[in-house]
Amino acid sequence: MKLPGLIDIHVHMREPGAIHKEDWQSGTAAALSGGFTQVLAMPNTIPPVISKRSLSGTILIANGKAYCDFAQFIGATPGNALQLSPIAKQTAGLKLYLDQTYGPLRLDDMLVWMEQLKQWPKDWPVVAHAESRSMAAIILLAALFDRSIHIAHVSLREEIIIIKHAKERGLKVTCEVCPHHLFLSESDIPSLGEGCSEVRPHLAASTDQQAIWENIDVVDCIATDHAPHTLEEKECDNMPPGFPGLETALPLMLQAVHDGLLTMEQLIEKMYTNPKRIFRLPDQNDTWIDVDLNESWVVDPSIFYSRAGWSPFSGRQVKGRVRKVVLRGQQSFMNGQLLADPGFGRDLRNVTVHRSSLP
Ligand code: NCD
Ligand code: ZN
Ligand code: ZN
Repeated sequence: MKLPGLIDIHVHMREPGAIHKEDWQSGTAAALSGGFTQVLAMPNTIPPVISKRSLSGTILIANGKAYCDFAQFIGATPGNALQLSPIAKQTAGLKLYLDQTYGPLRLDDMLVWMEQLKQWPKDWPVVAHAESRSMAAIILLAALFDRSIHIAHVSLREEIIIIKHAKERGLKVTCEVCPHHLFLSESDIPSLGEGCSEVRPHLAASTDQQAIWENIDVVDCIATDHAPHTLEEKECDNMPPGFPGLETALPLMLQAVHDGLLTMEQLIEKMYTNPKRIFRLPDQNDTWIDVDLNESWVVDPSIFYSRAGWSPFSGRQVKGRVRKVVLRGQQSFMNGQLLADPGFGRDLRNVTVHRSSLP
């Protein structure tokens, strides 16, 4: 079956700073092989993307290495609100980290949240990592400033219910859910083990998982939150939170379609149409993926392109596989093989960065 090239609005590429976990080449190879032709990259790299200079540096790397098209988010800090608005249009959007997670970008002070919402252009996306009460708070603040807000990785019943009511009231809130919160819950922690079940937001109760499925109409986007860390890191004492997800998201969602949990129209809406609209992404001409809906296979991360090298879905039977990806007329992936060159991927915000223009 032919589907549009999918869009993942939440991935962590780890370059610069932690290329043993992933780099722009391995991460975008994972994306293509998973059926994604556009990815939006998060700013919690080392160093983080929080300025014009760090944005240009990352885009320069991505331009040379990406297999699929991309855009880069910029991270809010307590002092950078004024500097960011002039370069907003070169970014995927603004990212606000309002709760503890991997990386240094957490913002505690609600006055900073407000300053950021006030300065950032009203027509450009803002995404919040905001759980529970901070989610309720940031939705209120976005409403006070009459601007849209997108809530990342919704996982709790209370969160999806608040978002449902907010939408009914006409507030400009949208949200995403990750496959791991749809297909895993607390009850999977013993079999996954402590390190490999560590993710933010945490795996939730099965009542939360059920509430998300019951309110799947309220969910605008499915996003992977592809957050690769190596197995070695996941199994040590200070295990970082995060799951790889680019190579399992579509098969899991196709399995859900097969099981009657979702329609194919909803899948396309949440993995293509809504991401494109919410994040104001351009058309990709002559771009599509070919999916074999009937192929059953067992998730085996040893054949994945991601450097993470493991998956919380390892050993799971899924139905549906990406056969071919055509990106802007170029056959880029077929039967497990990459056919395009690294660097074929384009910056969706169309920023031309020359090495000499770096400050
Ligand atoms: C993410 C990471 O590792 O960068 N981890 C995670 O558990 N989701 C950060 C994030 O998305 O919050
Ligand atoms: Zn997050
Ligand atoms: Zn993330």
